[in-house]
Order: sequence, then structure tokens, then C-alpha cells
Amino acid sequence: MSDLKKIKNELFLKLKSKLNLSEVNQIKSDLFGKNGLVSLQFKKIGTIAETERKKFASELNVIKNELQDLINLKIKEIENEEIKEKLQKEKIDITLPERPFVRGKIHPVSQTIDEISSIFSEIGFSVEEGPDVESEYNNFTALNTPDNHPARDMHDTFYLDEKKERLLRTHTSPVQIRTMLKDKPPFKIIAPGRTYRSDSDQTHAPMFHQVEGLHIDKDINMGHLKGCLNHFVKEFFELDKIKMRFRPSHFPFTEPSAEVDIGYEMKDDKIVIGEGDQWLEILGCGMVHPNVLRNVKVDPTKFQGYAFGIGIDRLAMLKYGINDLRAFFDCDYRWLNHFGFDPLDVPTNYRGLSR
Ligand code: PHE
Repeated sequence: MSDLKKIKNELFLKLKSKLNLSEVNQIKSDLFGKNGLVSLQFKKIGTIAETERKKFASELNVIKNELQDLINLKIKEIENEEIKEKLQKEKIDITLPERPFVRGKIHPVSQTIDEISSIFSEIGFSVEEGPDVESEYNNFTALNTPDNHPARDMHDTFYLDEKKERLLRTHTSPVQIRTMLKDKPPFKIIAPGRTYRSDSDQTHAPMFHQVEGLHIDKDINMGHLKGCLNHFVKEFFELDKIKMRFRPSHFPFTEPSAEVDIGYEMKDDKIVIGEGDQWLEILGCGMVHPNVLRNVKVDPTKFQGYAFGIGIDRLAMLKYGINDLRAFFDCDYRWLNHFGFDPLDVPTNYRGLSR
């Protein structure tokens, strides 16, 4: 028993020093673990002479309880200390001024894409996407573009390899091909996205945005194309009437093809859309060429329809009075703050929800 008393005294001293939780747990298992000092004493009880045994056992119990109490007390103490430290460290200074709240703006091009998408989705178009890096086949060949077509020229197109097999798409029209290859007609989709051409001045950037439209079904004709585009420009510019003309044009993937102009006039150095005797080109369109349909295994005697490609940046410039296209992609915060949109603003012509 004197052994245990010694241990108890040593422990008293030990527990007075600064210990952490794992050190105390170690002491605990040294004493009360399977082969712990106290546990061994308990095992000894059976070997002690019967006359001594009762006294030994009761003394042992007293010491065991004392030791346990001491350890539990130390654990509590350490835990309290930890809480106190945490409270000290994590004290919140409620007198500190708040951090400035900087709210981002939506880029006018993103806003315009949202507006365009909502107008077309209201009349049954769904949105498709395609990659910026395209195959030569999807960008040109499948779209009935002959080998000698000027658009294939290095001066116009950014090729990504010597063999000219991969390129940065020059228009969103390859999404027509992708969509028709993966599904069966009818198709009624728009595809907004980035496009690239080797061009740069006040109204041309090497990267710009287009939205492709494609509607293929039985009995779709040029009248549907006109009606659809007329609806679109009126909704987009928020005008009840807008002057619009189809000018004959050429694209290898549509026949007949047209470019669409809208009327405008200059008033006090500002463009006013809708009336006037000036014309502004905003998109290319036409009836999808039978060769394109054949290339994607759609039977042109059963299905036909129209396609269009709208220049998004140009529309954003017109609607929001921005006169240099390059500013769109300069990432100048002052410009973005001025022309950007509040994230919580619902597009002005998004009447779908409020109607
Ligand atoms: N892809 C054409 C362009 O970039 C536009 C277009 C799309 C024309 C669809 C007709 C049909 O100029």
C-alpha cells in the first residue's frame, strides 16, 4: 500500500504542473489501464492474507477514488482553460467598421444574351451550346462551304494546327450541325456563344458573340423566318413597330439567303432605332440548304426550315448606346461599372414573369 501512497503523492505534484489533455489521458491509462498501477494492485487482492485483505481492499478503493477525482478535476480544469483561451482569442470587436460590400455588375454582353434567350424561349426555342474550338468539318464542310471559300482563308480564320483540322469557330453555325447530328427533327434551338475572326477595328473584335437560330420541321417556310425575326427585333428594342428589310445575300449553308437590316435615324448625334431612312445590318439568315440537311442525315424532302445568325455585340451597342466595340473586352472597371447591370435587375423585356 505504501507503493500506492507514493504514487498518489507523485501524482499530486504532477497534476499541479501545466498539462494538456493528452498528457492527463496518458496518466489515466498508466494508472487505470489494463496493466495500470492501480489495476495491478486490485489484481493483488486475492493473494493477500485473509486477515489483511479487507483493510487492503478498502484502503485501495479510497486511494483509487481520490486519484480518479484528482484526474477528473484536472481534465475539467484544462477544458475550462481551453474555453477561456478560445473566448479571449475569438473575441468579436463589435465596434469595428463593416467591410465594404462590393457588388459586381453583369457585363452588357451577358445581359444581352439573357435578354435574347428569354425572348426566343418564350416562342419555343431551347438553348444549345457548342465549344469554341471546332473541327474544320463542323465549321465549314458540313455547312456546305466549298474549299475555295474566302472564309476559309488564314486571313479570316484562326487555325489551331498545320493541317487546318482544328480552328476557333468563325460563327455559331457549327452548333446547327452538332444539334442535328445528336437528335432527330424537329429542331427549334438557339445557340449563343463566342466566335472568332482575324479582324480588329472600332466595330470588329477578333472575338465576338453570335446567337445562332435553327428551326427545322415539316412545312417551315420563309414566312416563318420573317415573322420570327420581326417578333424578335420588336421585343428586343421594346418597340411596337420597327422598320426591317430582308436584303438578298449569300451564305453557302442557306438558300435563299438574306441579310436583315433595321431602320434608324440620327437625332442629336444619337442613333434612334425603328424609323428613319438609314439601314443597319444586324443579322444573316436563310432557308437551310438541302446539302446541310443531307450532311446530318435529315431528309430534305420531308423536313426543311430556316437558320439565322445574329451579332450580339452589335445589338448590345445599339440598345445601350455603346459606340466602341473594343471597350466590351478591355475589362476596365470604370466602364463596367457604368455600363454593367445590377445582378438583381430582371431584363427589361423579360415580360414572361410579370405578365
Ligand atoms: N453564320 C453566318 C455568319 O456568321 C450567319 C448565318 C447564320 C447566316 C445562319 C445564315 C444562317 O455570318
